[in-house]
Amino acid sequence: MDQIEITRPDDWHLHLRDGSMLTSTVPPSASVFRRAIIMPNLKPPVTTLGLAEAYYERILGAAPGDSDFQPLMTLYLTDETTPDEIQAAADSGLVFGCKLYPAGATTHSDSGVRDPGQIDHLYAALQRAGLPLLVHGEVTDTDVDIFDREKVFIDRHLTGIRERFPELRMVFEHVTTREAVQFVKEAGENTGATVTPQHLLLNRNDLLVGGIRPHNYCLPILKRDIHQHSIQQAVLEGHPRFFLGTDSAPHVRDHKETACGCAGCFSAPAALPLYAHFFDQHDALDRLEAFASLNGADFYGLPRNEDSIQLIRTDWTIPDRVSIDDDSLVPFLSGQQLEWQIAPHRL
Ligand code: NCD
Ligand code: ZN
Repeated sequence: MDQIEITRPDDWHLHLRDGSMLTSTVPPSASVFRRAIIMPNLKPPVTTLGLAEAYYERILGAAPGDSDFQPLMTLYLTDETTPDEIQAAADSGLVFGCKLYPAGATTHSDSGVRDPGQIDHLYAALQRAGLPLLVHGEVTDTDVDIFDREKVFIDRHLTGIRERFPELRMVFEHVTTREAVQFVKEAGENTGATVTPQHLLLNRNDLLVGGIRPHNYCLPILKRDIHQHSIQQAVLEGHPRFFLGTDSAPHVRDHKETACGCAGCFSAPAALPLYAHFFDQHDALDRLEAFASLNGADFYGLPRNEDSIQLIRTDWTIPDRVSIDDDSLVPFLSGQQLEWQIAPHRL
């Protein structure tokens, strides 16, 4: 097979940042994906409908002229968020989820929720409004090992939230462990999961063996291969509640290649070809479309896209740099050769 055509995909987890950076981050996503869930961890965070509306306009302002890209906005939950704000967001038709960042768990999460066990009034409001809860599922206790933080979060918080709010739609973002995969599978139809290219293609050896590779550093951190295999298996078996979420998370080069580098892989420049590469490696290209283009829309209760996109088998190399202002971004797996590319009319 040298060419495949699939329903146009959506990205259910994307960081675009703000300001002048939008000029570099919006086009690579908008030229491939029809819709994207836009993560709200700006500085200051997108905590209200008003802030989400303004951010939406700034994103559209950076989209190419002929683009029909639709940003699906989200709110950032804090200890001060009110049920009324959640209801207003749900009624707006512009906001498609609320993100739970445990305070201190990841980039720009310091305004996040201090104790996810203390915001039942917000889970109740989300459940009532029919708005999905998007979860960064890691505890932040200094005494919990970084490789165990996802598992502990499930035991300490998610299992209880799932039981107390059975109708709440919940997306376990960027799953990284077999415990998370198992939780999502067992939790029933209101629980879905996004899967990133890095957690499908890599494990912690790719971060640490032969030298430390800052561009493979993201949160939740890459785990050992048994966890990678469990995620791969859920995706390859075509489980309908696992779907594409790149978690493309750009940080300028100086903030990645430094003594204390930021977490996040800028995967947008090659995201869809990277997923295609993964499915092709496993002789499962026929499963790409549901994962990339159908499962997420179905889970969010949104219409599937009606147009399509073509991928062609042709060698190309992920670029070394994307320039922004007087700095640059280093794409995830830059320099790597890939054998799938998006057909030119979409580039
Ligand atoms: C994300 C970012 O930089 O905004 N970083 C990351 O490593 N994934 C935040 C997040 O999704 O955790
Ligand atoms: Zn993210």
